[in-house]
Amino acid sequence: MPSIAHLSDVHFGRHDPGAVDAILADLKELQPTLVVISGDFTQRAKRSQFRLAHAFLVEIEALGLPWLAVPGNHDVPLYDVARRFLSPLRRYRRYITPDLAPRFVAPGLAVVGINTARSLTWSDGRVSRDQIEAIAAAFGDADPEAARVLVTHHPLVELPWGEDGASLKAAGRARRALDAASVAGVEMLLAGHHHRSFTGSAATFRAANGAVLVVQAGTATSTRVRGEANSYNLIRTSPGSAEIEVRARTTEAFETVRVERHRLVDGVWAAEPRP
Ligand SMILES: [Fe+2]
Ligand SMILES: [Fe+2]
Repeated sequence: MPSIAHLSDVHFGRHDPGAVDAILADLKELQPTLVVISGDFTQRAKRSQFRLAHAFLVEIEALGLPWLAVPGNHDVPLYDVARRFLSPLRRYRRYITPDLAPRFVAPGLAVVGINTARSLTWSDGRVSRDQIEAIAAAFGDADPEAARVLVTHHPLVELPWGEDGASLKAAGRARRALDAASVAGVEMLLAGHHHRSFTGSAATFRAANGAVLVVQAGTATSTRVRGEANSYNLIRTSPGSAEIEVRARTTEAFETVRVERHRLVDGVWAAEPRP
């Protein structure tokens, strides 16, 4: 069964070096099929921060693990206005990857990433009309038996948060992108940005999208945590079922703090009761 280590919001420049070492040790031990990093490689898109992020990717490669990445809003400069609007992702392209629409295929797995980081809607991100059209094409030749996974930095659904019915924002044009993902047979959306881990069916947000599972990662290594320890998701998929193991750094090492199992029943992801 293929497995994905889903990391997000590593934020080099405002990272915990101990968490970086611990996560590399964990990846070495667990040997996932693929490492996904769903954006915010840096804190302020500085060259020195991108160099640290690049070194992290080199370490992942040295473990023999393939990786797939998308940029986050923090990988676009915020205060350097000239760079923000004239060459927003130049450093990302140079130090991380020039590929802003990455794909990864392995037996049982088809993973596609799209870039939601923008200069103008810096914080919230956006999906373009072209990207929405490209979602269908990107999975067009995928093995029908493979789990189809779409990776963005900004979530494509508003996430519930707090007890007063508040929610965390989704990317611009998220609803249309989510519909396109549904039509393309995407089983799972991987994203970050809010530094909070979450898993649930998209049916909660829009009934028609019930066959899409929303998986959010917390921040893997940033010191800017929002009430949660540093964490990442270890995801195992097989047709019609998904297991999300949340591994958090509650002490020195990352360890399993939660396992969520979901099964596709009548076209809607349903959580299995926790043992
Ligand atoms: Fe972030
Ligand atoms: Fe972000």
